Amino acid sequence: MLKTSSTFHASDGAAYERWLGRWARRLAPPFIDFAGFAGDGDLLDVGCGTGALTAAMAQRWPGRRVIGVDLADDFIAFARAQRRGRAIFAPGDACALNYDDGTFAGTAAQLLLLFVPQPELALNEMRRVTRSGGRVAAAVWDSRGGLVFQRMLWDTAVTIDPRARRVRDRLFAHPLAIPGGLATLFRDAGLDQIASASLTIRMDFADFADYWEPLLGGQGPVGSYFAELDEDLKGRIRAALRDAYCSGADDGPRSFTATAWAVRGTVP
Ligand SMILES: C[S@@+](CC[C@H](N)C(=O)[O-])C[C@H]1O[C@@H](n2cnc3c(N)ncnc32)[C@H](O)[C@@H]1O
Repeated sequence: MLKTSSTFHASDGAAYERWLGRWARRLAPPFIDFAGFAGDGDLLDVGCGTGALTAAMAQRWPGRRVIGVDLADDFIAFARAQRRGRAIFAPGDACALNYDDGTFAGTAAQLLLLFVPQPELALNEMRRVTRSGGRVAAAVWDSRGGLVFQRMLWDTAVTIDPRARRVRDRLFAHPLAIPGGLATLFRDAGLDQIASASLTIRMDFADFADYWEPLLGGQGPVGSYFAELDEDLKGRIRAALRDAYCSGADDGPRSFTATAWAVRGTVP
């Protein structure tokens, strides 16, 4: 399979779980509530990663067929190994979904679309495989205004390493991450009854090590950035980030908010 339609480095499901998957599990239930899928029919999780949303949908509707697809073979293997209810996991590209028109009652993409170079292709595919009257829903981090753990990282890193600016600006100024961006994509895709929300979870870290070490796991934009960094710069960023994390108190638990933009629409 060609792996060209992703900007997300995904090579290790366990490392992804520690870095982001554990928080994606918290986002999934409110995102499902918001999506408001009909009570029957198959459901598809597009860009499922290690299966946070797929598992939550399978748990909520044990009798339904729930499928998760992702470009990353390692993530799919990890998700399958977790044996999460009756959820089915398959490799697949969001921009060329391997399903017939109208197969699903609902399709959802949690934290995917910022990492697809042409997100309109992915949304058009989600619309195509969803039946008429069915729901399409997506959520992306409000990375600029609502994602404390990333804000702290990148604003600290750019003061030490100017190359961090490119990553920060790409994430924070992404057209889908700014207010109204995701809803515009849904309107352009011709979906009806579009509704938007912002969904907030909390990320609870045990201590600075619990915050810092998962950043080095090699996954996503953070992992790609740190993988190329020399030890001196990494050490300086670590020290400054530890200072920001502790903020004048002893090292220990910290709870940071994380907000996602969520949009849903109905297939005409
Ligand atoms: C931030 S992760 C989100 C994963 C999961 N939805 C979650 O909530 O934890 C982004 C995921 O999108 C996947 N991805 C990126 N581009 C893709 C594409 N074109 N088709 C399928 N998956 C893709 C990556 O492999 C990665 O698993």
